[in-house]
Amino acid sequence: MESSGAVLADLHPNYLRCPSRNPSSSSSTLLFTHHSSASPSHKLQKQLLLASYQPVFPSPIRRCAPLSDTFRVSGNIELNPASGVLNLGQGLFEGMKAYRKQDGNILLFRPEENALRMRSGAERMCMPSLTVEQFVEAVKATVLANKRWVPPPGKGSLYIRPLLMGSGAVLGVAPAPEYTFLIYVSPVGNYFKEGLAPINLIVEHESHRATPGGTGGVKTIGNYAAVLKAQSAAKAKGYSDVLYLDCVHKKYLEEVSSCNIFVVKGDVISTPAIKGTILPGITRKSIIDVACSQGFQVEERAVDVDELFEADEVFCTGTAVVVSPVGSITYLDKRVSYGEGSSGAVSQKLYSVLTRLQMGLIEDKMDWTMELKPAKAY
Ligand SMILES: Cc1ncc(COP(=O)(O)O)c(C=O)c1O
Repeated sequence: MESSGAVLADLHPNYLRCPSRNPSSSSSTLLFTHHSSASPSHKLQKQLLLASYQPVFPSPIRRCAPLSDTFRVSGNIELNPASGVLNLGQGLFEGMKAYRKQDGNILLFRPEENALRMRSGAERMCMPSLTVEQFVEAVKATVLANKRWVPPPGKGSLYIRPLLMGSGAVLGVAPAPEYTFLIYVSPVGNYFKEGLAPINLIVEHESHRATPGGTGGVKTIGNYAAVLKAQSAAKAKGYSDVLYLDCVHKKYLEEVSSCNIFVVKGDVISTPAIKGTILPGITRKSIIDVACSQGFQVEERAVDVDELFEADEVFCTGTAVVVSPVGSITYLDKRVSYGEGSSGAVSQKLYSVLTRLQMGLIEDKMDWTMELKPAKAY
């Protein structure tokens, strides 16, 4: 199976708007067609959920109309050229995964955390947002409608991408008058096909991902366009990704383009504290709890870039990779290597515990998974 990026790039949405049952909103649903030439099943279709709604009160507000759970065949997404998302970047997304269990049931991992993060992002971006319950119900309905696309146990997962955007027209700099929420999904393979593969990072000391008071702490779309230049330059030089520093002192670790970072020294695992400039990762939060349960001491604090040179191990966390060991980091032409080409013991241990919990292979004592029981598994 292809990696998540490759599979996502192959998605071709087709949808048709349908009238809302609620007069204050226009809800519609969509059906995605997967045109992957690599897959013999490319003629099969996946269903996606789309719901549009208008704020009932002037922004910023926190109300939206009920979502429809009816799915419809749809076409390319249609947006007003003056929409808030296209002109102002008023948009948020989330990323989550669903795993198939041996008994055919499907496991979601902490979906309410994604719902809460989207709500806090919506507040920052002056957007109305779904309640936690609405968000989780929409995710469940979309996954169940696409149950045939959840890979068999051990063969990958269903990546779930909820999107919230200002779809209404706005000429000035103001919140959009209408918002659209949609969810699309795609099956993805295991990120690491043959065990954990260490990545090579370069510390970026010129450009910054986020500023105090900015939007680095929420999952808004513009944060990602902003990292493409440094990331592309790093990749062109053979690095896997960029590690950002804080923009004030230019010496404290922040995060990688789409992952949080952890530094291991003995039994102490340190990670940059959440203070508005880094994304509060759900994997980060989970790994902190897993690490504590495994007897490690976890410190959330300012982590100096120089600590990288004293560390035993460094790893990144995120939904896509879960835990990604770092093989080397380059900072101002100084390079430090970890693990001699293989993943460190701590990364390996934490990866193993968390992925087995997410896949339903060990008891979920944390109560983090949500089990969906499709009427017919495949
Ligand atoms: C900037 C950034 N940091 C960290 C993460 C990791 O967050 P999570 O563990 O919730 O996937 C992501 C991925 O969503 C991200 O985009």
